[in-house]
Amino acid sequence: MNIIHSGAKYSAIVGIGENLKKLMQETGEEYLFLNRGVNSVVPIDLTEVVKNIDFNSPAIQVYPPNNGAPNLKEAINEVYFHGKADTSLISVSGGSMSALDQIFTMLDVDRIMLPSFYWGAYANVCKIRGRAFDVYHTLEELEEGMADLKNSAVVICDPNNPVGDKLSDEDVLQVIRTLSEHGVTVIFDSPYRRVFYDDDDEMYIRLMNLKDVLIVESFSKCVGLSGQRVGFVWSNDPDFIQEFNLRILYVHNGVNGFAQQLVYQLLASPEGKKAVKAFKEKTREDIRKNIEYLRGRGFLAEEFYRNSEPKGIFAIANKSYDELMEKKIGSVPLDFFTKDEKEKAKKYARICVSVPHEKLKEYFDRF
Ligand SMILES: Cc1ncc(COP(=O)(O)O)c(C=O)c1O
Repeated sequence: MNIIHSGAKYSAIVGIGENLKKLMQETGEEYLFLNRGVNSVVPIDLTEVVKNIDFNSPAIQVYPPNNGAPNLKEAINEVYFHGKADTSLISVSGGSMSALDQIFTMLDVDRIMLPSFYWGAYANVCKIRGRAFDVYHTLEELEEGMADLKNSAVVICDPNNPVGDKLSDEDVLQVIRTLSEHGVTVIFDSPYRRVFYDDDDEMYIRLMNLKDVLIVESFSKCVGLSGQRVGFVWSNDPDFIQEFNLRILYVHNGVNGFAQQLVYQLLASPEGKKAVKAFKEKTREDIRKNIEYLRGRGFLAEEFYRNSEPKGIFAIANKSYDELMEKKIGSVPLDFFTKDEKEKAKKYARICVSVPHEKLKEYFDRF
């Protein structure tokens, strides 16, 4: 069949996971899967939450409104914008991947600027959509090179995937403000932030008045529901949102109604809020212990956290993929996540630190 090949590649991380499973089968030995990108300390307990869902309701059985279920959009407004947003400027997406795909396709810019260590999917979406991308290394570099960013869109991912470094909110906001004043579009894609922040977080409210800022959010990480494929996009440009909604309609015909009602329950009902709280508390506790332990034992690649705090669900270990594999620890070589810092990255690996503390300790104690 004649088809148009995009040239995009399957995530190498999937291949690493498959290889680990094969090794486990062949050797009968256990491996620790730190190659993954999901919170794995505990699953969120939905037992009480699903009892609130009326499966016989049109909200679940019939085509959803293409810009999102009204009750979910109201709940997003309350939880993320403290009721201050205009819900017509919030669009429910089928997770951040599809939102970013639509955004990268829609924006009339010459290139997308990514952090120098970036989530590989950004580059693959660019490849599929024929968009050029380039990288920046620090926020200062963005400020200093503002004049060159005229026809670019800048992606901000904080805490970053793969590094797991949290920059200061003030510094991030200052750069976003300057970019916005210079007419540069900012895509704030930080799905790991809300794992560590609660409903009193004001970041999105502070971004709300800025021109040309897009907020891309996902429920995959902060409530541990990557299987549901739900997120949202906010922009204060009605023209952008209208086109975004049109594309949801003609590409997806709306976002899964059940998944939207499930997330609605998590954001709005007492049972949902309780489940989210318990999930976040336990997840954060073990992440904190894991980072503390890695730091204490000298396994954290400190050079990545000189001007930031290690706070993500990921961290950079100063061990290579092979060194970790010797101890039966799965990871992702850091050079998979960069195009211009491959040499520097070779000796490091990205590990997921959102796993039970005792397990991580047990494996790293082998060093
Ligand atoms: C930085 C970043 N953005 C977005 C996503 C996509 O999340 P989802 O499509 O599950 O909402 C991920 C997933 O790993 C990510 O790491």
